[in-house]
Amino acid sequence: NEIKIFSPATVANVACGFDVLGFCLDSVGDDMVVRKVEKKGIHITRIEGFDLPYEAELNVAGVSALAMYEAIDVDFGFEIEIYKNIKPGSGIGSSAASAVGSVFGMNELIGRPFNKTQLTAFAIKGEALASKCEHADNLAPALFGGFTLVKSVKPLKILEIPSPEDIYATIIHPQIEIKTSESRAILPKEVALTDAISQWANVGSLVHALHTSDYELIKDSLHDVIVEPHRSQLIPHFNEVKTAVLNTGALGCGISGSGPSIFTLNKGLETANKVKEAMESIYSKTDIDFDIHVSPIN
Ligand code: HSE
Repeated sequence: NEIKIFSPATVANVACGFDVLGFCLDSVGDDMVVRKVEKKGIHITRIEGFDLPYEAELNVAGVSALAMYEAIDVDFGFEIEIYKNIKPGSGIGSSAASAVGSVFGMNELIGRPFNKTQLTAFAIKGEALASKCEHADNLAPALFGGFTLVKSVKPLKILEIPSPEDIYATIIHPQIEIKTSESRAILPKEVALTDAISQWANVGSLVHALHTSDYELIKDSLHDVIVEPHRSQLIPHFNEVKTAVLNTGALGCGISGSGPSIFTLNKGLETANKVKEAMESIYSKTDIDFDIHVSPIN
């Protein structure tokens, strides 16, 4: 009647794939407990780590749980406990982890009537509470794992993309807060055709490269000419970090989701760890606190 869940952090966009690509960080995430209880409805009974609302209607995990609860006909309710490790506003899918964890747990407890795409559709309601728009590029990798591509939101269609065997992410989170809604508001409403051509060429070639484990092509595809030029201005030392990690051997570097976290993809754990040191050495010279993770992607 109770399930413990690890709900992973995720990196959305993956440089060229704004709002469509994402990947799952296997070793970073929140813990949650979901429990069947007699009292009908959705009850958030415990939150640790960060100060978040207990009212289900105001809580990302609660909103997605309510969306699913309305779709099922049961004479019991659910309690949700949230042990948050992913800082809200860090750019590694904090809200997505919450939104996904509650519906994943509920689905397990009632015999899995919903598939992962249907769970994503419930979770999107929670995500929308946080980011003021319905996007699934963090939700999909949190539910499916590995790399995913959101082909469309309406109707919701998610593609799973294979992960090359030896791929690792290094992510640094400089502790400044950037709200997704704000970093979306600064983006241009129109893009130049020449930029669009580069961007979709890179998305296509990155997907091909992931399918064929072609690391050189991954490296050649991890570029974002549309969003990064605007958002990178919000992240202190972004360009310095990017230059340093590329010189250290990272395949590519970009803004994780809407920032401020910065991600890299690397071939092999050894390179990922060297990249970690390169990132650390830049931010440790500043007065900005940071945390840093290395994670496989499976
Ligand atoms: N694709 C979204 C964005 C992810 O970049 O705004 C934010 O979580």
